[in-house]
Amino acid sequence: GSTESFDNVTQIPSYACQRRTSLLHQNKEITDALEILALSASFQGSEARSLAFARSTSVLKCLPFKLQSLQDVKDLPWCGNHCKRVIQEILEDGVCMEVELVKDSEQYQSMKLLTSIFGVGVHTAKKWYQEGVRSLSDLNNNKRKLTAEQRAGLLHYKDLQQHVTREEAEWVEHLVVRALQSYVPDVQVTMTGGFRRGKEVGHDVDFLITHPKEEALNGLLKKAISWLESKGYLLYHHVKARSQSFSKSSTMDGHETCYSIVSLPNYYKHNWDCEAEETLKNLDNSEKETSHNWRAIRVDLVVAPYSEYSYALLGWTGSKHFERELRRYSFEVKKMSLSSHGLFDNEKKCLLPAASEEEVFAHLGLPFLLPFDRNA
Ligand code: CTP
Ligand code: MN
Ligand code: MN
Ligand code: MN
Repeated sequence: GSTESFDNVTQIPSYACQRRTSLLHQNKEITDALEILALSASFQGSEARSLAFARSTSVLKCLPFKLQSLQDVKDLPWCGNHCKRVIQEILEDGVCMEVELVKDSEQYQSMKLLTSIFGVGVHTAKKWYQEGVRSLSDLNNNKRKLTAEQRAGLLHYKDLQQHVTREEAEWVEHLVVRALQSYVPDVQVTMTGGFRRGKEVGHDVDFLITHPKEEALNGLLKKAISWLESKGYLLYHHVKARSQSFSKSSTMDGHETCYSIVSLPNYYKHNWDCEAEETLKNLDNSEKETSHNWRAIRVDLVVAPYSEYSYALLGWTGSKHFERELRRYSFEVKKMSLSSHGLFDNEKKCLLPAASEEEVFAHLGLPFLLPFDRNA
């Protein structure tokens, strides 16, 4: 890098929430490699190592130039010896041997496969791996006890592996809004997650639901779910009730949430503005009878009371690493506890209300970052 870039590097702040991180950057080969090492460490239960790789990955994602030599990373925060070794190998040979060995290893491949099933986390995948499970057919053949979520995950595995496009996400939004509006016409629905950060594809579609009157939200999610179910759109759903008992300083998320799998009819593309059910009636029988004229999409619905909305929006927009860093910054620098319910000042012992995401950043003394710049 040039001298100019080097000067920039020394100014890179330590917390990801203090930096702009857009989706596109110039060191993807290296960050892909480090992300594999982070994932592999988490598969092995080494959370601290995984976090260290995640932090160095995130720093490289906000570099404004393509790395040319180790000199360029000399003064970067979170870029330790292990990380530097990986960078050096990739700069010199195009690949890093350690990363290649991880990618080829049976444990990494099996863990990656198993954790890609909806409802299967690292803990479960590890247990299964130790019991000898290597493939999806191993799971299907075995008389293993699966949760309803995992059974649905296996059933729709192929569909859920495919990326959700923005066009598909917008179709789902249209459907979700219709379901909610048939009970509360002025309900507020916002697409959060990766799509709000500007991603063109995602692994699911996330929505945040709110209304200025709290009573309007009572029972709304359940009714919308019944509406979707009655029209045949729901392939699976699981509701996590709102937990009222969370403490003010807890970072736990206690919002009412529905984790679901929605069926997206293939004909939606030709009939964007039509009511889907009307379209179905007009299809000729040969089209109706094709075995798979729909595809499964993962959808998360979150309900937040209006008073907590800004915090919920910030919390459900991500990225996951950005959120983790925002909480770490709040706690370590500001002595505050941040969650998607609110911000608690541990010294003044009070909650800090916020009417917008901008106000949350202001409480934390951070420059406001648009969702597009939160791709840490
Ligand atoms: N999230 C959360 N609590 C959960 C699950 C998710 O607060 N139980 C937050 C995550 O921290 C993230 C956001 O919701 O900020 C979206 O999560 P997710 O859909 O998993 O990831 P995306 O960033 O949307 O990426 P993708 O495109 O893969 O869906
Ligand atoms: Mn998402
Ligand atoms: Mn994800
Ligand atoms: Mn999600």
